[in-house]
Amino acid sequence: MTYRAALITGASSGIGEAFARALPSETDLLLTGRQELPLEKLVAELSRAGRRVTYTVADLACHEGLNRVITAAEEFDIDLLINNAGLGYFGEIAVNPSKAEAEMVLVNVVATTALSSALLPGMLRRAEMLGQRAGIIIVASVVSFFPLPWMTTYAATKAFDLMYALGLAEELRGRPVDVLALCPGSTASRFAERAGSPTRLALLGHTSAQVASAGLAALGRRHVLVVGLGNRVITMIGRVLPPTLFARIVGLFTRRARRPYS
Ligand SMILES: NC(=O)c1ccc[n+]([C@@H]2O[C@H](COP(=O)([O-])OP(=O)(O)OC[C@H]3O[C@@H](n4cnc5c(N)ncnc54)[C@H](OP(=O)(O)O)[C@@H]3O)[C@@H](O)[C@H]2O)c1
Repeated sequence: MTYRAALITGASSGIGEAFARALPSETDLLLTGRQELPLEKLVAELSRAGRRVTYTVADLACHEGLNRVITAAEEFDIDLLINNAGLGYFGEIAVNPSKAEAEMVLVNVVATTALSSALLPGMLRRAEMLGQRAGIIIVASVVSFFPLPWMTTYAATKAFDLMYALGLAEELRGRPVDVLALCPGSTASRFAERAGSPTRLALLGHTSAQVASAGLAALGRRHVLVVGLGNRVITMIGRVLPPTLFARIVGLFTRRARRPYS
């Protein structure tokens, strides 16, 4: 499936940047993030004659930034929305600054719902008019399936993302917009360092390119993709064990690994 025009949030690094590279050159790109320099470089790299590639700098944790992206995406006539921007902080809720805790909810939850609901009507209208399909990818996580003490708020936002994608997919059954909850495990990107992760988890996981390609291949074929066999086993255990027991067991590891937000 080749899309005409895609909005990718969080395109300035990691998985979002990999999505931009993975999409075929027939797809026009609208990239967003807060850091201008990497967006500028990516636009220069991916621009081709006859292909629109542009960026909008915006902080998705605030209304003004969200509105700027919505306006730009409506003008761009997108038929692929990749809700990828996200962040997480390790540490105790009792210790982390409440601003940091709220930021996770604003970007991972509020921005995802605001962009999806604002852009979906236009995507549906164009897809129905042109007789084509459109798509929404919501980047959730392997931690969408269970509580994760000492990264509690992050895991809760990702549980929201998974449930939101599943509900939306059902609402759109029979309509020309496909929805995918993409659930990576540990992935090499700036995420772990920004999260204050105490371990080099990225060494155990996938590359951002692997995650992005897997997501694009799965869109339209399924509603949920957990990336990698090891992660699928973890989520199966997460679904079988009672959440309280799972939190207890996982907490034994994350309690020792915790490091306060700085
Ligand atoms: N890496 C992992 O192990 C992993 C595992 C599971 C799920 N995920 C999910 O994958 C997605 C992408 O993360 P990543 O691994 O690629 O991490 P990353 O390299 O840190 O990239 C995160 C992206 O989100 C953007 N972003 C963060 N806060 C923002 C804000 N307030 N406004 C606008 N953009 C913002 C960043 O833009 P700026 O830098 O320009 O601010 C950046 O482009 C996230 O939703 C994350 O939760 C990651």
